[in-house]
Amino acid sequence: MSGTPPPGPALFQPLRLRGVTLRNRIVVSPMCQYLAEEGRPGAWHMAHHARFALSGPGASIMEATAVTRDGRITHGCTGLWEDSQVAPWSAITQLYRDHGVVTGIQLNHAGGKGATARPWEGAGPLPEEGPEAAWACIGPSAVPMRPGWRPPRQATEAEIEDVVAAFVAASRRAVRAGFDLVELHGAHGYLLHAFLSPLTNRRDDAYGGDLARRMRLPLMVAEAVRAAIPPEMPLLWRASLTDTVEGGLTLEDSIVLARALKARGVDLVDCSAGGIAAPVSLLAQKVPHGFQVPLAEAVRREADLPTMAVGMITDAVLADRIVAEGRADCVALARELIADPAWAYHAAITLGVADPEAVLPQPYAFYLRRRAQAQGR
Ligand SMILES: Cc1cc2nc3c(=O)[nH]c(=O)nc-3n(C[C@H](O)[C@H](O)[C@H](O)COP(=O)(O)O)c2cc1C
Repeated sequence: MSGTPPPGPALFQPLRLRGVTLRNRIVVSPMCQYLAEEGRPGAWHMAHHARFALSGPGASIMEATAVTRDGRITHGCTGLWEDSQVAPWSAITQLYRDHGVVTGIQLNHAGGKGATARPWEGAGPLPEEGPEAAWACIGPSAVPMRPGWRPPRQATEAEIEDVVAAFVAASRRAVRAGFDLVELHGAHGYLLHAFLSPLTNRRDDAYGGDLARRMRLPLMVAEAVRAAIPPEMPLLWRASLTDTVEGGLTLEDSIVLARALKARGVDLVDCSAGGIAAPVSLLAQKVPHGFQVPLAEAVRREADLPTMAVGMITDAVLADRIVAEGRADCVALARELIADPAWAYHAAITLGVADPEAVLPQPYAFYLRRRAQAQGR
């Protein structure tokens, strides 16, 4: 006799975005590794991604990947600004595909936050000379991103058009590299966020001033990338939904942006915050669990667009509730997955999923089922 299987926890329900289905709602959040050579991921990246590929998430979004060489954050950032970067990414997407994990690439232009040292080397501006010298950065306006940093040069209109073309070219390379989806990095103080924020965009031309003009470049990028990638391929946008300070970008502004992104074919907003006036959530601060979930909830409700919640989501029961209560469609985890790549497996056990070992590849599942029997589970 066959019957409909019990629905099970919300966290383990599939999520469909256009032509792509994530087998569950657990997403590896983008995490820069700062160890690429001329933008090419290497052995470290393969090992890093293998930890997640073998461990049962629904999707993995790869680190902020520069669309131009000058759009890197550090010398160690990955890129898709030239064809030689496609093959090393293909090896990684193939690894994930072999294990049923949807892959995404986060495309980025660092703007005035470029030419900095790796976090563990201080994350400050690079020296003018030496093997890892600084390069010239563009931004919406010549506003330094941190006190004492070199200000970026205000981008000309021609350079702004070049940025759009670079996002398009990189997204086409992402398709060739086998990615299932593209995420545009509109957060954390990098170029697209810097255009949105009144703190960093002081222009008085078509790309600055009121919100509609500050949104112009971000929307041009979204529209152009949407047109460049296959219709069945989801397009995501990572947003810093608030600058969290007086005079900065507000959640209300970001809801206007989310509606405009939806109208241009963006399928989901990945809901982060900070990076210009306030630090990005990852910096060492004590924050409550799931502290950014209200942002994802507001965008989902007000813009009627699927969202991904991120930020200190470490507990399986909390993650399941976020999805079950309709506060977000999926959750992204970063540091927790570094600490426990098998988080999805452990969450499946905690949430009482039938046959939790099924989230893992067969050679692991077989022996862990036997271990579960030996433990009397
Ligand atoms: C090592 C590391 C690298 C990160 N790199 C990126 C990145 O490339 N792009 C991005 O949008 N966020 C990046 N983040 C932020 C995370 O994606 C995530 O939003 C943040 O860490 C909060 O989630 P968590 O509390 O689960 O770590 C990074 C975080 C870490 C820990």
